Amino acid sequence: MPKVKSLPRGVAMVGAGMSKFGAFAEKNSRDLFVESYKAMTKSVDKGFDPAIIEAMYVGNFSSDQFEHQAHLAPILADSVGLLPIPATRVEDACASGGVALRQGVMAIASGMADVVLVGGAEKMTALSTAAVTEALATAADVPFEIPAGFTFPGFYAAMASAYMAQYGMKSEHLMNVAIKNHDNAALNPNAQFGMTIQTWMEGRVAAALKKGKPAPTWANIWDFLHDESGNPTIAYPLRLFDCSPVSDGAAAVLLVAEEIAHQFTDHPIRIIGTAQASGSALHDRPSLTSIPAAKTAAANAYEMAGVSAKDIRIAEVHDCFTIAEVIASEDLGFFAPGEGFKAAEDGMTARNGAKPINTSGGLKAKGHPVGASGVAQAVEVFKQMRGQAEARQVDGDVSLALTHNVGATGSTCTVHVFERRN
Ligand code: COA
Repeated sequence: MPKVKSLPRGVAMVGAGMSKFGAFAEKNSRDLFVESYKAMTKSVDKGFDPAIIEAMYVGNFSSDQFEHQAHLAPILADSVGLLPIPATRVEDACASGGVALRQGVMAIASGMADVVLVGGAEKMTALSTAAVTEALATAADVPFEIPAGFTFPGFYAAMASAYMAQYGMKSEHLMNVAIKNHDNAALNPNAQFGMTIQTWMEGRVAAALKKGKPAPTWANIWDFLHDESGNPTIAYPLRLFDCSPVSDGAAAVLLVAEEIAHQFTDHPIRIIGTAQASGSALHDRPSLTSIPAAKTAAANAYEMAGVSAKDIRIAEVHDCFTIAEVIASEDLGFFAPGEGFKAAEDGMTARNGAKPINTSGGLKAKGHPVGASGVAQAVEVFKQMRGQAEARQVDGDVSLALTHNVGATGSTCTVHVFERRN
């Protein structure tokens, strides 16, 4: 690996916003991007003139497949009145948003620009689930993995099975991750699934009664989650509530050179570590229970930031499936290998735990419009670090936070470290 260099120039996030995530039949990716851009502009404390934005990077996995619209970046720039600035679409599967963020950081750190817009957008729900699954599977190593019958639920199911065999985890343990992330999403007005699993279960009972059908007799959420009619198996051992959904949504953040941040806000969030690493596809890895690119990106981001895993107060990690959050919590150095599922069970990763993870609800419950996810993670840490996360605000000071965004099964991973100084 090349030597980790410190950022040659400080970079600060001074605005952040997102659209609601969900399934919106009437909205395309540009509608959603406009919503996120407006939310971002509102969040800039002292306001700003959009004419000072010099460049835009936008994470988008596959508008070509999902919307039959390629070349999305200039269209999104036009939709928010930013022509003729350079607008670049960044594609690294589900890590597209994290990579776009890193491009924005590098544009400012290099001195090429002082003010950069970073966005992410994806409109997935116009296709059937089967067609979405096929489109997502193009992010795999197609000639090797697709003929073997793999799709993404299958890949992560294989990782979960390997983890269970290696560390003695039971599939039930993964339910702790889903329950926590739904609890957090219930407090996030932008989440696709803004309800606890308890509320969800009660809704299913009420809907059955309304239709005059026999009401399911689930004693509690554990009963519901163990029942195939409440929580069907998608790819063993993963069930419905282990999966992130198919989603539409967008997110946007405004990055500026640190020396001019005071013109925008008295409470900037500095980006002090940025790293990206690549890895082989899953079929070519010696172990299925950790992601080498995540470990490398984490080590490099920590080194650049001059911090370690124990210093991080909160993290938004890439939980496209519940097992992915468990593995991420280990790859990032928060817990030892084989301990991540126990930490989730013990409540350590809950909002009021020692290491809160995915206070937004994560990809699992906030939603996963793939190209937007890495940017939406930055939106959540911006809010938490400035004490603006409403009912889901964690207690105490959030002076250091981290985001972790994975493409495919870990062929790409970005890690960013954020700092609030005042
Ligand atoms: N978690 C919980 N509930 C979910 C859900 C999820 N991930 N996805 C859908 N649902 C719910 C819907 O809200 C709906 O509930 P309702 O009947 O009460 O209205 C019900 O399940 C059926 O929804 P539907 O959209 O028909 O589900 P589906 O079977 O077509 O799709 C999955 C379910 C899990 C297969 C799909 O969400 C999926 O493929 N997820 C993974 C996406 C992915 O791979 N992303 C990239 C990761 S690398």
